[in-house]
Amino acid sequence: MRSKRVLITGGAGFVGCNAARYFGTRNWRVTVLDDLSRDGTDQNLHWLRDGTSFDFERVDIRDRAAVERVFSERRYEAVIHLAAQVAVTTSVTDPRTDFMINALGTFNLLDAVRRHCPEAVFIFASTNKVYGKIDGARYELRGSRYAYVDRSYGIDEGQALDFLSPYGCSKGAADQYTLDFARMYGVPATAFRQSCIYGTRQFGIEDQGWVAWFTIASRLGRPITIFGDGKQVRDVLFVDDLVRAYEAAIVAPDKIAGQAFNIGGGPSNLLSLVDLVALLEKRLGRKIPLRFDDWRPGDQRVYISDVRKLERVLGWKPEVSVAEGVAQLDQWVQRNEAAFAAPAEAAVQKSPVKVASGQPVAPVA
Ligand SMILES: NC(=O)c1ccc[n+]([C@@H]2O[C@H](COP(=O)([O-])OP(=O)(O)OC[C@H]3O[C@@H](n4cnc5c(N)ncnc54)[C@H](O)[C@@H]3O)[C@@H](O)[C@H]2O)c1
Repeated sequence: MRSKRVLITGGAGFVGCNAARYFGTRNWRVTVLDDLSRDGTDQNLHWLRDGTSFDFERVDIRDRAAVERVFSERRYEAVIHLAAQVAVTTSVTDPRTDFMINALGTFNLLDAVRRHCPEAVFIFASTNKVYGKIDGARYELRGSRYAYVDRSYGIDEGQALDFLSPYGCSKGAADQYTLDFARMYGVPATAFRQSCIYGTRQFGIEDQGWVAWFTIASRLGRPITIFGDGKQVRDVLFVDDLVRAYEAAIVAPDKIAGQAFNIGGGPSNLLSLVDLVALLEKRLGRKIPLRFDDWRPGDQRVYISDVRKLERVLGWKPEVSVAEGVAQLDQWVQRNEAAFAAPAEAAVQKSPVKVASGQPVAPVA
């Protein structure tokens, strides 16, 4: 029997390349689709090539004809849709591009799935941002973190949708289209409303991917700015746990079709900014200099996912603790410190490797 085929959009990104490696080493035939717009994608593709076999499609999901071609050439049993404009800040400065990639791009994929492979499980990487500020949830400061007063399990899927920011709107629209394609066209489609995901191969920047950004910046001695008091807290999930949840969904289409799931580390994997700084200081054996600035508009003091639905339906639970996960991320950064530190040109001269985009990259192992 031929092995099944999965299309991973955004497959050269952080979550995407980890998913591609996972499925590619488990008897799935993997197609990675990415436009390589994000920094670090060349390095991720290069890493992926070393040990995983996959097909690569350099495609922009806004391009309907190109998406159409990808679906007409191969038949997929699963689609994990991760390609996105991922930063809230960028969505505010350029809401049209954000809309085109996140809303229209997702629509292009769903519409292609509906016509070419309607039995394919479609997983949309949605976001907790679809719940907005969650005005009704009361919180208080407890030590180094804010905490909910009356939501001890966190925010569940019954929470009212309240799209805030262009990113919230574009991802929220895509989330609702995903669920509706299950109802209207019978596509086994699901929206995973992800909280903060972190892990190796995350080229975090100040605007997105804060756990990785803090880890990289502190290793390289780059300045770290904390917006607000640093006690804002998130439930953080290590990327391997997320990818296991994708797999659990793919093998149980009847259980997930038309359903939204909140996914994050849940109440047992909480991390505030200052908690992370303390963890990193311990690993580095020195103080990390910090600069404090005003709160960013809309920044929640606390967000914690209630992950019990996912556990009930798919038997999934996070397994990697915060300490273990941050250690793995930090070890990856440490192994590649020279590549992170080197200005692009110098890194290129050290070890030029051509990858799909045609640009030479410094390998990040
Ligand atoms: N990382 C998190 O904490 C988190 C939290 C909630 C939701 N999400 C969602 O999970 C998904 C994966 O996030 P990530 O952290 O891996 O981000 P990432 O930026 O590392 O990956 C996104 C990938 O999409 C690609 N891409 C961007 N625009 C594209 C386009 N027009 N056509 C084709 N490819 C395009 C980028 O090159 C990149 O490789 C995203 O949809 C994101 O919104 C992530």
